[in-house]
Amino acid sequence: AKSIVLNQDPSLPQAKPIKLRDTIAFRGKRVKVNGWVHRLRSQKGMTFIELRDGTGYLQCVLTGDLPKTWDAQNLTLETSLSIWGVIAPLPEGKTAPDNHELAADFFEVIGQAPSGDEAFSNRITKDTGADLKADLRHLVLRGEVASAVLKVRAGVLRAFRKSYEDMGLLEVTPPCMVQTQVEGGSTLFAFDYYGEKAYLTQSSQLYLETCLPALGDVFCIQESFRAEKSLTRRHLSEYTHIEAELAFITFDDLLSHLEELMCRTLETVLTDPKVAPLIKELNPTFEAPARPFLRMTYEDAIQWLVEHQIPNDEGEPHKFGDDIAEAAERRMTDTIGKPIFLTKFPVEIKAFYMKKVDGDPRVTESVDCLMPGVGEIVGGSMRMDDLEELMGGYKREGIGAEPYYWFTDQRKYGTTPHGGYGLGLERFLAWLCARYTVRDCSLYPRWTGRCTP
Ligand code: 4AD
Repeated sequence: AKSIVLNQDPSLPQAKPIKLRDTIAFRGKRVKVNGWVHRLRSQKGMTFIELRDGTGYLQCVLTGDLPKTWDAQNLTLETSLSIWGVIAPLPEGKTAPDNHELAADFFEVIGQAPSGDEAFSNRITKDTGADLKADLRHLVLRGEVASAVLKVRAGVLRAFRKSYEDMGLLEVTPPCMVQTQVEGGSTLFAFDYYGEKAYLTQSSQLYLETCLPALGDVFCIQESFRAEKSLTRRHLSEYTHIEAELAFITFDDLLSHLEELMCRTLETVLTDPKVAPLIKELNPTFEAPARPFLRMTYEDAIQWLVEHQIPNDEGEPHKFGDDIAEAAERRMTDTIGKPIFLTKFPVEIKAFYMKKVDGDPRVTESVDCLMPGVGEIVGGSMRMDDLEELMGGYKREGIGAEPYYWFTDQRKYGTTPHGGYGLGLERFLAWLCARYTVRDCSLYPRWTGRCTP
């Protein structure tokens, strides 16, 4: 049969253009919605379109002559279109998002998506491997899970900013192009900067420290870059780093602040009507951790690993001074099953700037926060505030002090006890949303060999 072309009925009330997040409020009124075909099925002469616009989903039904049009007959997944009609609650026994559907009186295709080999459903299937999925990240994002994680990500960023605002820290935006290292030379991305050597920042910590006398306690949410050689499920080459620095505090204050920050932020997201339902979908059993978090020294962790016969990287029993490797750390965290503040790491395995514990110069006032399923999500410490000690720190790590003159100056002009930390946003999200890898928690993740799309 020849398809028919229909026109919009001019006698109908003017339609209000709305986003799909607002559908409940506009039930019973004639609306115009725009979006992409997320699901599609035809049944008993009717066409059911689940429309997606990024803000929500809406079932739309074409009845009467509408399903007989050429456009309806040739509709494909991911076609973009506008639909006019009235949203009404669903009859008993039917299900659709928000328990309502739009009865269309007119629709218009805007961008027809391909059918056949190039059809969206043939680009990504259940059998698409991880590599191809990474190449197709731009299409994967349209899926319900990937987009839900990114919406939670936005909510978590909002919540962190709110916590900081409420806790009295000021946001700053340090540079990404720098000439100093923070966390060791082996993971630096170097590049040519007008003939000089420069790096992509590994951490904004040193810059935050310089802000204390000028702006008080500060935080930043900035990309950090690490040329990690290993392919693990929790390492990215570029990640979003939430960092803060606080003056005139003790190590205990630092731990309390961290606990406060994380608990406040979780409370905000878990009571945010836009975010909480998504977390429930992604991680149905998630519960905010109880305070106080378990505190455990590095030395006790080594003991714990020995007792539980979890070997080090050489397959031998752990001993004081070992870096606790990712696998061992995760086994310990998963066994204990709740957040852990792991404290007081040995000087040798930590960064040049960390303050030593009073009365025990083997170890530093440092903390890693470990979460079940992920392991370390925060690394922080008190900083050396003594000039001579800092010079010794550079020396121990073989770092030339010259490029750090501005950092060193902090110890000359009114030094104070101070400390801070960095939290990896993707790791926090992997924990909160129960994702296997941090790669699923970044918009366009970068890792060893992967810089596309
Ligand atoms: O422990 P890190 O290296 O500490 C610092 O960079 C400090 N300078 C931060 C500070 O005190 N201001 O990194 C902090 C956190 C880690 O706990 C982890 O969550 C995250 O950053 N992180 C990574 N996340 C993803 N991919 C990587 N390659 C990461 N490296 C660190």
